[in-house]
Amino acid sequence: MDNRPIGIFDSGLGGLTVVKEVMKQLKNESIIYFGDTARVPYGNKSKATITKFSAQIIRFLLTKNVKAVIIACNTVNSNCALELHELFPDLIIEGVVRPGVTMAIRETKNGRIGVIGTEGTIKSGRYTALLKENHPEYVIYSKACPLFVPLVEDGWINSDVTKMVIAKYLKDLLSKNIDTLILGCTHYPILCNDIQEVVGERIKLINPANETAHKMGMRLLNENMQSTTSPTYQFYVSDQKAHMQDMASMFLGYSASNVIEVDIENY
Ligand code: DGL
Repeated sequence: MDNRPIGIFDSGLGGLTVVKEVMKQLKNESIIYFGDTARVPYGNKSKATITKFSAQIIRFLLTKNVKAVIIACNTVNSNCALELHELFPDLIIEGVVRPGVTMAIRETKNGRIGVIGTEGTIKSGRYTALLKENHPEYVIYSKACPLFVPLVEDGWINSDVTKMVIAKYLKDLLSKNIDTLILGCTHYPILCNDIQEVVGERIKLINPANETAHKMGMRLLNENMQSTTSPTYQFYVSDQKAHMQDMASMFLGYSASNVIEVDIENY
């Protein structure tokens, strides 16, 4: 038994898609969320910069006594997971990329898989490498969709403009006969209705958050570190706390009235 919270972080609002699944699946677990809203996006930044940002965030989360951390950011996960494991060797750290790969393998029938994410995630080639490691015969098509993150951060959900941008980015992928599309950025599931409308029902969308929460639950169970109390949820950001408050309430259906701003450069 371990009643300490789980730390979850992202560059901004995207990690709320993981928070939502953890709240749903791990009902006793408390959460400390950090969204780096002052420095979003991470997707176009160098590996050295996002490693430094992520290490600051983990150091901050450790001051909140977290028992484990979920990197709810594909860009960080696919570029600096190794460095973060080396910097924090005793901390349980789970990411979103392997769970996304597990789900895609489970779902695909024809082995033709699309991956969309930030420039940083797609350039890392991490999804393709892990999918091919398990199934060399798979055909993987990937595409960076950098405008999706600002659209989500600005709340452009269910809008014609967003659907036009989605259609433009996904035009080529849609001609490749894929049956599965990995939403390889935690912001993208917030647009999942818009994306599904554009790609059609025949393509299965993969939101790695689902398997990520499951995997964290199994890890805590195996280590005998599950919480037994009723949970608390605390949200921190590096800027614009009112916006996080609104988005968390809208997206999680949870009144996040207690969002706190942190000067993350101090960690
Ligand atoms: N939501 C993050 C990801 O999964 C980062 C998006 C960004 O900051 O560019 O990649």
